Amino acid sequence: MTFAGEIADHYARYRRGFGPAALAFVRERLRAGPDALVVDLGCGTGQLAVPLSAHVRHVLGVDPEPDMLRHAYAAAGRAGATGATSWMLGSDADVPGLAGLLGRSAVQAVTISNAVHFMDTGRLFAGLTDVLAPGGRVAVIANGTPVWLQDPAWSRALRRFLGERYGTDASGSRCTDAAVLARCREDMAAAGLATEQHRLDLRAAVTPEWLAGNLVSAMPPEWLPADMREFADAVATAVRSAQPAGGLVEDVPVTVLAGVRA
Ligand SMILES: C[S@@+](CC[C@H](N)C(=O)[O-])C[C@H]1O[C@@H](n2cnc3c(N)ncnc32)[C@H](O)[C@@H]1O
Repeated sequence: MTFAGEIADHYARYRRGFGPAALAFVRERLRAGPDALVVDLGCGTGQLAVPLSAHVRHVLGVDPEPDMLRHAYAAAGRAGATGATSWMLGSDADVPGLAGLLGRSAVQAVTISNAVHFMDTGRLFAGLTDVLAPGGRVAVIANGTPVWLQDPAWSRALRRFLGERYGTDASGSRCTDAAVLARCREDMAAAGLATEQHRLDLRAAVTPEWLAGNLVSAMPPEWLPADMREFADAVATAVRSAQPAGGLVEDVPVTVLAGVRA
């Protein structure tokens, strides 16, 4: 999966961020106060790092995709958060080096939102213990379910639409799902971290146009539509044929698996 170019543009515009309720829930699980230094690994376009930075001393966002970081930097500027955020091109493979960069035990919390499924979690959690402060936390977060993997008729219609258009079964796509969280729990325990998991159930209204943009933000590059208007119309037709009347509502479960350093 790449998050370059047009996909990053759509990610910044059409991916769910952390509104007040989700942000408060994550902050409660992080226990990071106003003096905390936080690392947001796989920070993407800053969906979590930017709003979180208003409540801590500093957030360092780390991501291997320059186009995602460009959007994150711009989002921080718009939010007046340039002084409270830094952005680093890197990946989970750079975690063992963070203690050398930031200082041993210098970080109060590490967040990984919708990104841990790309990482080598055994190596990651073992490598984090050097940079995490005693009592510090790593929080693996799943912010909702991919729009084409949900239960309502409109989501089942999106699965059918993707299958027909691209000749593939999209139901096996990777995300931070229950199996990934279970693996993370085991790897956290093996790294000596105590674990706790909490879930908040939110709901959100969606529109066919937003769903089309959201799909593009998660696509392999070879699927990118040449004509975005045609794609959005096709998505709207698929969704509306399954659910002709009424608003479209998405269930947004927000799960936080926290690993706590002794
Ligand atoms: C689905 S996005 C999540 C972005 C953001 N955290 C959010 O909550 O919306 C996944 C991000 O993980 C990044 N990523 C992919 N592989 C990674 C790795 N090995 N280490 C760190 N980040 C990675 C991608 O570039 C992308 O920005």
